[in-house]
Amino acid sequence: MNGTIFVTGGAGFIGSNFVVHTLTETDLSVVNLDALTYAANPMNLQTVARSPRYTFVQGSIGDRDLVARLLDSHAPVAVVNFAAESHVDRSILAPEAFVDTNVTGTFRLLDEVRQWWSSRCPPAIRASFRFLHVSTDEVYGSLSPHDEAFSESSPYAPNSPYAASKAAADHFVRSFHRTYGVPAITTNCSNNFGPLQHPEKLIPLMILHGVRGKPLPVYGDGLNVRDWLYVADHCRALLRVLADGRLGETYNIGGGAERANVDVVHDICDLLDTMRPRADGRSHRAQIEFVPDRPGHDRRYAVNTARMRDELGWEPRESFASALDKTVRWYLENDAWIEQATRAGYDDWVRANYGLRGRTP
Ligand code: NAD
Ligand code: DAU
Repeated sequence: MNGTIFVTGGAGFIGSNFVVHTLTETDLSVVNLDALTYAANPMNLQTVARSPRYTFVQGSIGDRDLVARLLDSHAPVAVVNFAAESHVDRSILAPEAFVDTNVTGTFRLLDEVRQWWSSRCPPAIRASFRFLHVSTDEVYGSLSPHDEAFSESSPYAPNSPYAASKAAADHFVRSFHRTYGVPAITTNCSNNFGPLQHPEKLIPLMILHGVRGKPLPVYGDGLNVRDWLYVADHCRALLRVLADGRLGETYNIGGGAERANVDVVHDICDLLDTMRPRADGRSHRAQIEFVPDRPGHDRRYAVNTARMRDELGWEPRESFASALDKTVRWYLENDAWIEQATRAGYDDWVRANYGLRGRTP
């Protein structure tokens, strides 16, 4: 694949890892459209900011004129849509932004892509153009302990406002392929972790609270299970889907690393005990507090990735243990990034988040 890819939401966690990975590992150029919400961190893109193959544009996927102008001026070979409100807890506290960005924003982006692709796209690009929509395993709902992992034919059963908004977007993508022939593919991925993830999410939150001596708030009984994937493995998967994925299909991506939340927190505590021991000699596990559960909390996610493996030859390379070790080290070594990520808004969010559970930090 040669040319320019148009990435949305490329200043957030997965998007910025993907932008850097793409510029490092391929000859593609990247145009990155990002609204720079609280979740974005311009420091994520410091290493590529001066690259002649990289262009950053601040703006929204819901801004039709801007999207149309960017499509016309850059004539991308693909659009990769990461832009979203991504945090389940925030979607419970304030769901409307999730409709605005994840549903209406994705719809407008898709509709501008449809119009450009069907009438203004250069003929040399039209046949190979791809719209890759980055979605989540949460659209499938919740599994019981003995259920089989989600496959691409699992029914949609979203439980949180976040999951519902992503499911709605996925349906629009599917319908634009079926109705208008837009060459679209959707990926549904499990929980990512790694460098550059906002500290509102489980793993970075536990690392930062751990080193700061704060409580480690485990929701409910801590036995909810997630399937963890190192972000670099997700980036490789997306490039494989862009190159060889079948149009109109969906691809499930996951780490094959199911863990109960409390076990993940124990692993983080054990790493911190070695890398940054507490002054009193006790384990960081002493900071764990079980707090009231997330409303509607999905019990278990697990992803069957046979299609990715059999059709596209993709498998995760990182083990959960080695990736968690790298991730904890990265957060311990990047104070300036943490300072930037937890600037205005973060403390308000923490207060509101705890407020949801009737607690104060
Ligand atoms: P994130 O919250 O870290 O980043 C989202 C980015 O989108 C931010 O840079 C933000 O500024 C930008 N954005 C928000 N609204 C926008 C708008 N209207 N226009 C342009 N940009 C906008 O999210 P993430 O964790 O990197 O997730 C990226 C995508 O991957 C999302 O679509 C999410 O649903 C999906 N996903 C995430 C995970 C995960 O574990 N994090 C797993 C599966 C799928
Ligand atoms: O499955 C993919 C999804 O993974 C993505 O689509 C979402 O964008 C991403 O945020 C993530 O959603 P989760 O809700 O699973 O991630 P989060 O890090 O918020 O929580 C992971 C688990 O940990 C979940 O069961 C809730 C629990 N948790 C979370 C936080 C922040 C806690 O117990 N304590 C916490 O403080």
